[in-house]
Amino acid sequence: MKYIIAGTDRPGSNTLKLSKFIQGLYKAQGEDVEIIDLAQVKEQLHSGGPHYGKTHEGLQVYLDKVVHSEGLIVVCPEYNGSMPGALKYFIDHMKFPDSFEFRPVCFVGLSAGMFGGLRPVEHLQQIFGYRNAFIYPERVFIMNAGKVLNAEGEPQDEMIKQLLTKQTMGFRNFVQALSAFKLDANSVIASKK
Ligand SMILES: Cc1cc2nc3c(=O)[nH]c(=O)nc-3n(C[C@H](O)[C@H](O)[C@H](O)COP(=O)(O)O)c2cc1C
Repeated sequence: MKYIIAGTDRPGSNTLKLSKFIQGLYKAQGEDVEIIDLAQVKEQLHSGGPHYGKTHEGLQVYLDKVVHSEGLIVVCPEYNGSMPGALKYFIDHMKFPDSFEFRPVCFVGLSAGMFGGLRPVEHLQQIFGYRNAFIYPERVFIMNAGKVLNAEGEPQDEMIKQLLTKQTMGFRNFVQALSAFKLDANSVIASKK
């Protein structure tokens, strides 16, 4: 299963709406992908249990999804020139190296301004690159997101829809190709057992 990480805990976020639209694109290609909604994860992040290595059950559910995922699609808004703190906090709880090494990851950015989330996506690429993930090279950026997305999160711009569809198809092939040669994270973890 691939997971879309909706990268903010802000209630009613454009990020979650866009994540649902992207989920629909995978569905249209016959693939069910699940959304990890940081607004739900947040409840567990701040519930006061032991952290960093001895994670409590509520959060562990989400961390297990990541560590067993065949690929991650991170949808990330720009907050103050970077990613939301909740997303970095979630990443910092992920099991290392299993969550990251050889794990296929792809990125979609969005922002109110004109850079479309380029900055947070490049920060994420630094993090996942540092941790040896397989980064899918085609990123999608949505500028002026509050206006471009409708109330359901569907882009009202044909070119953005096409880019998202192309990314979805490309990422599916990318994951399939890595797994065919047992180069993906799950194959590497299985080979160590
Ligand atoms: C705390 C916060 C900080 C933000 N900082 C920026 C920013 O630095 N640059 C920008 O273009 N948009 C910024 N935005 C706007 C969001 O990127 C924009 O609303 C986008 O549609 C996605 O945010 P959402 O998922 O919270 O709706 C910020 C929004 C919030 C809530």
